[in-house]
Amino acid sequence: MNKITVKDFREMKGSGHVISMLTAYDASMARLLDQAGVDSLLVGDSLGMVVLGYDSTVPVTMEEMLHHARAVSRGTEHALVIGDMPFGSYQVSVEQAIANGTRFLKEAGCDCVKLEGGKEVCAAVQGLVQAGVPVMGHIGLTPQTAGQLGGFKVQGKTMEAARQLLADAQALEEAGAFAIVLEAVPAPLTKILSQKVTVPVIGIGAGPDCDGQVLVIHDMLGLFEKFTPKFVKQYCNLALDIKQGVQSYLEEIENRSFPGKEHSFALEEDFSTLL
Ligand code: KIV
Repeated sequence: MNKITVKDFREMKGSGHVISMLTAYDASMARLLDQAGVDSLLVGDSLGMVVLGYDSTVPVTMEEMLHHARAVSRGTEHALVIGDMPFGSYQVSVEQAIANGTRFLKEAGCDCVKLEGGKEVCAAVQGLVQAGVPVMGHIGLTPQTAGQLGGFKVQGKTMEAARQLLADAQALEEAGAFAIVLEAVPAPLTKILSQKVTVPVIGIGAGPDCDGQVLVIHDMLGLFEKFTPKFVKQYCNLALDIKQGVQSYLEEIENRSFPGKEHSFALEEDFSTLL
């Protein structure tokens, strides 16, 4: 399978194919998802919550993101790899956004970056795109600024808020974003918004009527037990499998049924004289 490029990704809109995206944070998971045929891997700043143990995505640093993005790139052959710009890495100035955005491509092997926000980040989006860094936008529920939005709540529920979201999506497209993640938005608004922009809209908690779907891998595999958003479907329960596997290991080492002969090395000489 060929490597998916930003151009391929953009051209998937309207092709009839639903674009698939999952988060990944390390090489072995990236390899599995890539081999399963997922179109794009987002090294999300959700890293902070599902891997690093922070309470939100706010504390995640550029160095943490780059470390994990490098691992994902090493494990990926086919999927488009998207580096998520952490809070504080693109808000100070356009120069700062370009300096940090280029690091995802140069140092971590990502194909593009994602950043959160609408009109207020368009100067940064434009600067990045002009500097050669393809950008994916992210509007609706934006976890880095969830405090300002009143918490992790559905967005775009009033006519005014819906108009604002449509304006943000169009502004991002005009600024040069090649795709937009739309999070926690009523399904009918997603349908309208997806029709109003020419770039792919990738939904998470945004219903079925968009160009693609994304989920946090730990949520869909049932690996993150702290909380599960309403929009998540758990396709398996790996937390349970892991706990059961570890309990079996504990029992077997206690009763010495593991390691068995098949897991042990035999001697070629008699070492009993060593006693
Ligand atoms: O960081 C992340 O995982 C994300 C997804 C929720 C889209 O931004």
